[in-house]
Amino acid sequence: PLTCKIGPSILNADLSNLEKACIQMMDSGADYLHLDVMDGHFVPNLTFGHPLVKCLRPKVPRAFFDLHMMVAEPEKWVTDMADAGADQYTFHIEATDNPLALARKIREAGMKAGIGLKPGTPVEEVLPVVEAVDMVLVMTVEPGFGGQAFMADMMAKVEFLRRSFPHLDIEVDGGVGPATIDACAKAGANMIVSGSAVVKANDPRAVISQLRNSVVK
Ligand code: DX5
Ligand code: ZN
Repeated sequence: PLTCKIGPSILNADLSNLEKACIQMMDSGADYLHLDVMDGHFVPNLTFGHPLVKCLRPKVPRAFFDLHMMVAEPEKWVTDMADAGADQYTFHIEATDNPLALARKIREAGMKAGIGLKPGTPVEEVLPVVEAVDMVLVMTVEPGFGGQAFMADMMAKVEFLRRSFPHLDIEVDGGVGPATIDACAKAGANMIVSGSAVVKANDPRAVISQLRNSVVK
C-alpha cells in the first residue's frame, strides 16, 4: 500500500533561523522536509548547499531530508550530500545526460534516488529511468521560486505515471496548498511538497493536517 506523506519546503521560511523552521515543521506533523538546493545556473536563484545540510542534520535528527537538486551538475554533489546526511537526492532529468548512472551513484552512496521533471518536459522521458529510481517529482511550477501559481495541467503527467506505476512514489511540488491539494490527490500523487502555504500560515499544524486529510482517502 502506498503511503501519503506531507513534506514542507522551507525555501520561504526565515532562512536566518532554519533550525527553528525545521523543528517547527516536524513538531507540526511534517512527514519529511523538502530542501531546495539552487545553484543560479539550472534555475535563476540561489539557496544553499551541502555545508548547510550538514549543519542542519543534527538539529532535526529524525527528519527525512528530501533534497531537490535544482543544479546544473547534479553528479557533482552526490557524495557531499550523502556525507552531510541527506536521505533522498532528487535530480532533474534536464540536467544530466546519464540519469541511469546518476541514479545508481545516488543509491550506492546510500540515499534514495528521485528524478524531477520541469513543466515543459514530457513525462515519457522518465520512462527508461523509472525502474531505477524511488520517486518521480512532477514540478507544478517552473523551478526557482516559492509562492508561484499551481499548474493544474501537470496533473495529466501524474495520472499517467500513477496508471503506469501503481506503487511508485510520485511527488508534486509548486503552488500546492489547501486550494490545490484535491487535484493532486485525485491524480494520484502521494508525496506532497508545500512551501508558502505551510510556512507562511499562522497555524502550520492545521494546514499540514488539512493537506493530509485531503490526500489520504
Ligand atoms: C520551487 C521549489 C519548491 C517551492 C515550493 O522551485 O522547488 O519546492 O519552494 O514552494 P511553494 O509551495 O510556495 O510553491
Ligand atoms: Zn522543490
